[in-house]
Amino acid sequence: MKGIIFDLDGVLVFTDKFHYRAWKAIADDMGIYFDEKINNRLRGVSRMDSLEIILERYEGKLLTMAEKVSLAEKKNQIYRELLRTMTPEDVSEEVRDTLKKLHVDGFKLAIGSSSKNTKFILEKVELIDAFDAVSDGTNITRSKPDPEVFQKAAKYLRVAPEECAVVEDAFAGIDAAKSGGMYAIGIGEASKYEKADAHIEEFAELTEILEK
Ligand code: BG6
Ligand code: MG
Repeated sequence: MKGIIFDLDGVLVFTDKFHYRAWKAIADDMGIYFDEKINNRLRGVSRMDSLEIILERYEGKLLTMAEKVSLAEKKNQIYRELLRTMTPEDVSEEVRDTLKKLHVDGFKLAIGSSSKNTKFILEKVELIDAFDAVSDGTNITRSKPDPEVFQKAAKYLRVAPEECAVVEDAFAGIDAAKSGGMYAIGIGEASKYEKADAHIEEFAELTEILEK
């Protein structure tokens, strides 16, 4: 392996709880049932695709595209307010040390996230300088499980897809990595996903897996 592509939300930072709170506010407002289990289906999925999943339980009138865009914007405003509270302490020492070690050992590191808030988050937690490239929701047209975000990350790193490993907490992200021809490492929710090539419980285990 020469390149490592990291998902952001749920792998490097735990913004899932903020996504949940923001979507929950929108769902409650519209009388839509929404819980943590449904929230799990939103992992790795773009903002508009996430809204469609939430609207599966909506019993009101058919919404226009403009109404959907406005709901997604409202969710994002709530989410960004919550993100504002983030500080460098929201990234564990384990994550920082492991990233440094992998870099020193010669791996090229990239972000591959569906989020359009990626750069804002990386700046808030002061992690932006840890990566050689960032591929995110602002440079893709198709959301995970499509491999586009990872393919672009590999391209920015100038590393062939088959020489890249992807670290992911989302099932959709593992599927994306596999269909892009990459080695998929599952962590968190995806640590038990059988389609992943390797499974880890702790972030620091990456050095053992990748330096074999
Ligand atoms: C992914 C999250 O990283 O980004 C998803 O796992 C989220 O839950 C997606 O919907 C898009 O995020 P944003 O910040 O562009 O709304
Ligand atoms: Mg994730």
